[in-house]
Amino acid sequence: MESAEFHSALALLDWQIELGATEAICDAPVNCYDLPDRLVKRDVKSAALVESGPVPAAPEIDPVAEAKRIAQAAPTLDALNTALASYEHCELKRGAHNLVFSDGVPGASVMIIGEAPRRDEDREGRPFVGRAGQLLDKMLSAIDMGRDHATSPVYITNVLPWRPPQNRDPHPEEIAMMRPFLERHIALAQPQMLVIMGNISAQACLGKRGITRLRGNWAEAFGLPALPMFHPAYLLRQPAAKREAWADLLSLKARITGG
Ligand code: URA
Repeated sequence: MESAEFHSALALLDWQIELGATEAICDAPVNCYDLPDRLVKRDVKSAALVESGPVPAAPEIDPVAEAKRIAQAAPTLDALNTALASYEHCELKRGAHNLVFSDGVPGASVMIIGEAPRRDEDREGRPFVGRAGQLLDKMLSAIDMGRDHATSPVYITNVLPWRPPQNRDPHPEEIAMMRPFLERHIALAQPQMLVIMGNISAQACLGKRGITRLRGNWAEAFGLPALPMFHPAYLLRQPAAKREAWADLLSLKARITGG
């Protein structure tokens, strides 16, 4: 095998293992779309295959209604974490190593809403621990705040608790399923204000995208003042935008100190 082929085969294998495909189950792939929608059984005497009627339809479940039902029923943050872990309607869960719930101090006046875990967060089960997270920590420390800060802590979560494959953008249905959990998360954490990091978060919290236009303008989300900002991952790619991010951090600090 050529070296390039070897490396791309290895990368493919790595990716499959990362998604949890660690076991070969059949020799040949099964196309689920081709499976009969009628039950087929083997007749014991003749050994012939006979149809025995339609497969009973599974009861239709509305994943968003189900998310609302179980999120609303959670009386505490721990219960909400458990409720999320039991939610089976989001495909992202199957490709993730860990559920990433939150970090920082619940009850902090500022709650930061990120987008979705990436590789490092998926491995550790904590939000914002990779390069973007390290930049976020520096940004917070520049205004004397932080996830572990003794007097000015923040609380951090993401719109999505599971890593999308290859960090793709979440689909609108995935955001819609996770929104009831986010809403309940905010209600239970009781922050005084939100920081909305990036477009996915703006979509989930404000119902619109366009972070370049939205950033720096205080808005309202889930009944709270909310500041949209550039996502730290964007700032890593576009360091010139740190100027605007700094202005937004100062605006956040002024709001907290009542300035
Ligand atoms: N980006 C996010 O939005 N959240 C994380 O947890 C990590 C990177």
